[in-house]
Amino acid sequence: MLFKKRLTVSLFALPVLLMPGLLKAQQPAAVTIPVKTAGHALVLQTDKDNNLRTIYFGKRLLNEEEYGQSLSVYKQSGDDGGMLSNAYTPSGTRNLAEPAITVTHADGNNSLDLHYVSHQVNKVNDNVSITSVLLKDPVYDFEVTLYYKTYFSENVIEQWSTIRHHEKGDVTLQKFASANVYLRSESFWLRQYHGNWAREMQPEEARLTHGIKTIDTKLGTRANLYEPSCFMVSLDKPATEQEGTVLYGLLEWSGNFRIDLEVDPANNLRIIAGINNYASPYVLKPGEAFTTPAFLYTVSHMGKGTASRQLQQWARNYKLLDGKGSRLTLLNNWESTYFDFNEAKLAELLKDTKKLGVDLFLLDDGWFANKYPRNNDKAGLGDWQENKSKLPNGISALVKEAQNDGVKFGIWVEPEMVNPKSELYEKHPDWVIKQPKRDEYYFRNQLVLDLSNPKVQDFVFGVVDSLFIKNPGLAYIKWDCNAVIYNAYSVHLQKNQSQFYVEYVRGLYKVLERLRAKYPTVPMMLCSGGGGRVDYAALQYFTEFWPSDNTDPLERIFMQWEYSYFYPSVSSSNHVTDWGKQPIKFRTDVAMMGKLGFDIVVSKLSPGDLRYCQDAIQWYNSVKSIIWQGNQYRLSDPTAGSVASILYLDDAKGSGVIFNYLVNNRYKEGSVLPTRLQGLDPAKKYRIKEVVLYPDTKSTIDAGKVYSGDFLLKVGFNPDVRAARSSVVLQIDEVK
Ligand code: DGJ
Repeated sequence: MLFKKRLTVSLFALPVLLMPGLLKAQQPAAVTIPVKTAGHALVLQTDKDNNLRTIYFGKRLLNEEEYGQSLSVYKQSGDDGGMLSNAYTPSGTRNLAEPAITVTHADGNNSLDLHYVSHQVNKVNDNVSITSVLLKDPVYDFEVTLYYKTYFSENVIEQWSTIRHHEKGDVTLQKFASANVYLRSESFWLRQYHGNWAREMQPEEARLTHGIKTIDTKLGTRANLYEPSCFMVSLDKPATEQEGTVLYGLLEWSGNFRIDLEVDPANNLRIIAGINNYASPYVLKPGEAFTTPAFLYTVSHMGKGTASRQLQQWARNYKLLDGKGSRLTLLNNWESTYFDFNEAKLAELLKDTKKLGVDLFLLDDGWFANKYPRNNDKAGLGDWQENKSKLPNGISALVKEAQNDGVKFGIWVEPEMVNPKSELYEKHPDWVIKQPKRDEYYFRNQLVLDLSNPKVQDFVFGVVDSLFIKNPGLAYIKWDCNAVIYNAYSVHLQKNQSQFYVEYVRGLYKVLERLRAKYPTVPMMLCSGGGGRVDYAALQYFTEFWPSDNTDPLERIFMQWEYSYFYPSVSSSNHVTDWGKQPIKFRTDVAMMGKLGFDIVVSKLSPGDLRYCQDAIQWYNSVKSIIWQGNQYRLSDPTAGSVASILYLDDAKGSGVIFNYLVNNRYKEGSVLPTRLQGLDPAKKYRIKEVVLYPDTKSTIDAGKVYSGDFLLKVGFNPDVRAARSSVVLQIDEVK
């Protein structure tokens, strides 16, 4: 890492460091390490035995000296071993709670103790700093460095650890968490997610009770399918959009993860997050470093809205590929053709792409394989040569045709996978993840390739690389991943099977790293049979993700709402399809709340519907920078009432768009009460007009009226949502 180094040791520590001779005579003075962002502080401190503990996690104090005394006002008991608040809890010694790390030393001993040695703060730039703390076992030559990377103005922290040893033989890491966070509060409220195909991001919220609640996955790939690693914890009571203290947590890892939330005997919350150690003891050689992925979190003391805006801002500034850049609107052919297409049909769709007014045509699954043609999902995966009967002139002819039509061309791949009915499988059975002595078991008729094997990494890289080499005009990739890992076994790893799950993900990142080194800017969609793989480790290589195959707009209002807590709208690919019963306006409006795309048969649209789509795309192009880069305010919660409203507002608080939907079709349901706006400048004056009306319909909104920001914030605005106006899009602009 390239940054300016600056060693900062707390004043309290100076006597220890400067006069080591004093150590024997005196008890070491406490070392206090504040890890601060604009509004939040996490404070670590050594105890009398030199254990590093979390003494404070909350709002920043005005006077830094007072962090040291914060513990004195707590009268909790229950921490018998004195380890519950450990900054990275070891096991096998005094700790009897859930550990962050468990090891088997070279001599077979299972005990670990970690004592503070030193720390430093490296300023990366005015907004970003990394605090690192070195801990060592006093008995074994074993050490852990804890990292806290702070993004000051976004109130975001990334926490990870690096584990090393110099013992006389290999050490086995039985558990190796990224982070161990400690929170004190009256009560803790967890909002977590579950789901499945077409049912992604289903929220559940409950008070955490004593004991351990684990959110995890053991699926290997498609890690988010049943339980994503994103969650939120509110303190004292469930946070609302504008009130309450809330922590949003996510693990930056695309494979097996495990997050333990333990309300301990002292009634505090221990969050231990990292790679899932399930079936994964990791053998670490002397001198080798094991670096965990980062656990990412943001804390807001002003409710969920602020927390999301912080995280969205952080993602655009630092993590999501091209987070501040533009995106391509597109027409996808998956639902309009499935596997049934040929050159002539695609030529029509390319013309439709232009007619609709979007930027790019995206050719989905089914374009490849010859010996076992990809005419359904049972065959061909792995054989990435154009299917000669569907595409006799290859992809390059389509790219040229697209160019002639004035649109760009993108393509679908699923390079990590193989159908047993494929030439790839016949040629390289040893590249496939399966148990050598057991029957194969398929997920969507396919198996996963062994990305721990460098030869497989080369192959997967080559699939995408050769598409670009042959078609330099290729402008977009949709990267799919439809199977989970059953029968986890790698021929390549031989006796090191327990490292398989970790090595798979590392292999995936190596491929993506190579691709991005060669093709840094080509937009890529992260897809996994819907939203099976959405995380910030992957999103540093992808410009957007596919939230779900479920594009019923009513469902999407709820799903996109939940995703929006954690991910910015610019990363959310939303397509207009034929799912659901809503009219085209409703479907398009919902899709416009992120990165707009279509997957419909344009030629079958009625003239009115086609015109609506064309007008909407034009309007979208004029405001997309506000939707993608502006600040998002969730105004009216669809789970709490009949209307969903979301505002996107530019930084200057001068222009914004508000999407409003009816989500309850019962008699007379609608926006009876006004929706209070957020984020506006109370001193400014605004005008609100309804936009993107369906052809030949009139708005009921008086666009001439002027409101003060103060009025809109305190009283609100009524979008007049009701059965006859189930989707209402408003544009709000400052009146100067
Ligand atoms: C699953 C994806 O989620 C769909 O959008 C589509 O690309 C299919 N795979 C193709 O097989």
